[in-house]
Amino acid sequence: MAKLYEGKAKIIYETDNPDEVRVLFKDDATAFDGKKKGSIEGKGECNAAISARLFEYLEGQGVPTHYVERLSAKELLCRQLEIIQVEVVARNVAAGSLAKRLGLEEGLVLDRPVLEYYYKSDELGDPLINRYHIRLLELATDEQLDELDRLAWKINELLYEFLDERGLRLVDFKLEFGLDSEGTILLGDEISPDTCRFWDVESGEKLDKDRFRRDLGRVEETYQEVRSRIVDA
Ligand SMILES: Nc1ncnc2c1ncn2[C@@H]1O[C@H](COP(=O)(O)OP(=O)(O)O)[C@@H](O)[C@H]1O
Ligand SMILES: [Mg+2]
Repeated sequence: MAKLYEGKAKIIYETDNPDEVRVLFKDDATAFDGKKKGSIEGKGECNAAISARLFEYLEGQGVPTHYVERLSAKELLCRQLEIIQVEVVARNVAAGSLAKRLGLEEGLVLDRPVLEYYYKSDELGDPLINRYHIRLLELATDEQLDELDRLAWKINELLYEFLDERGLRLVDFKLEFGLDSEGTILLGDEISPDTCRFWDVESGEKLDKDRFRRDLGRVEETYQEVRSRIVDA
């Protein structure tokens, strides 16, 4: 079946059903707006398995997601979405760009968790935006944005607890949402060590893509470790 889109981490294929797509997870890894490129052996399988498990969990807790079923080790069947070009980031602990931009020490627990929006544009390097920018660019209606906020907070609460029980501290994560053919907002894309920061609850060790970004070593092993904690537990 035809390839609809190839991104940095996944390929989207059409299926016989116009409302569904096949999402293939690649081993390719990029960081710093694509300036750093590499490959992480086994990442595609790990991220497909991790995403499937987390989407199943969220769906069971009343969060509408695009996930339909696992097709193979690296492929998920998902509802086709018209992706809203706003990445929603939720943060519980200061890290990455938040720590840098606001001068906060990495690891500072945020008394009040934070939501951020980024404009999904490779050309512009995914800039940080606010509600006014979203209105200006007509990326989403105010009602849709309220729904994204509501879902993001709910997902944060659900995932934080689910992961904590598996020894993973959910520091921050990025979500993408989209509209299905009926105009319903569903959680899309992936939830994986590529799109979340996970720190070991006990040691604080980084168990996510920061190991690749910052050349911390044991990259492949980390994806396997996270997969086993989330999927086998
Ligand atoms: N259910 C879906 N239907 C259509 N497109 C989707 C769906 N889920 C994710 N996508 C899109 O698939 C593309 C490929 O993913 P990815 O490789 O992560 O891309 P990117 O390089 O933009 O991060 C992204 O543009 C993402 O928004
Ligand atoms: Mg992506």
